Amino acid sequence: MSVLRLDSLYKSFGNLVVTDNISLIVDAGERHVIIGPNGAGKTSLVNQIGGQLRPSAGRVLVNDHDITGWPPDSISRMGVARTFQRNNLFQNLSVVENIRLALEVRLGNPLNFFAPVGRDTAMSERATQLMAQVHLDGDGARAARTLSYGEQRQLEIAIALAGEPELLLLDEPTSGMSPSETARMIALIGSLPRTLSILMIEHDMKVVFSLADRITVLHYGKVLATGTPAEIQANDRVREVYLGMVH
Ligand SMILES: Nc1ncnc2c1ncn2[C@@H]1O[C@H](COP(=O)(O)OP(=O)(O)O)[C@@H](O)[C@H]1O
Ligand SMILES: [Mg+2]
Repeated sequence: MSVLRLDSLYKSFGNLVVTDNISLIVDAGERHVIIGPNGAGKTSLVNQIGGQLRPSAGRVLVNDHDITGWPPDSISRMGVARTFQRNNLFQNLSVVENIRLALEVRLGNPLNFFAPVGRDTAMSERATQLMAQVHLDGDGARAARTLSYGEQRQLEIAIALAGEPELLLLDEPTSGMSPSETARMIALIGSLPRTLSILMIEHDMKVVFSLADRITVLHYGKVLATGTPAEIQANDRVREVYLGMVH
């Protein structure tokens, strides 16, 4: 079953077509990576799924519900979470306080799973789970501002996971990271449960080929190819227009 389906999605800014009839499926539990040169339209595509950008035409379906053009908070209530390039942490609050705030936001949701009795214990347990999931166990008391760049991005993933999403959107989660931070981020993403589907943009080929179940290559707003890492590596068109450029 598909968690996400894009049907002939189309977006233009004036004369510039950034999303040119893109159709794409992310299956339940899949890790799908989008690659493509700068300006290919990768971020614009993710923004249309998260609701930050309104498509000009076509459809976005999450678990077969048409969410095209919905605002971001409604889309997030449908189980879609994302991280942003720009850091959205409360720098003076601790790791656990940042996570608890994200859990509180979920409490505001009428569908919340915490009963008023025992709410505090349940939240603490969930915060501990989330810290472990992003490899920040034992860092709960540290102020966010004292975390390294890589650790801050790990915490952002915990915050995205606090809402129990089914689909996680990641836009270049390793950008600006050192090789060791990148390695830690790959391990973290690789260890997330398969109950979560992931659609991520990535430019680091090492990350792409170690995490992806399937890869979609974008070029000038169009899908150039979709396939397994082996299929993409063997695709002549992809080698010509994209992989060739890297070398
Ligand atoms: N709000 C906007 N208005 C006009 N052009 C935009 C806007 N956002 C992005 N673009 C243009 O759309 C193209 C695709 O951008 P983007 O989706 O950020 O690409 P990528 O993430 O693949 O580098 C680029 O040429 C960019 O300049
Ligand atoms: Mg981008």
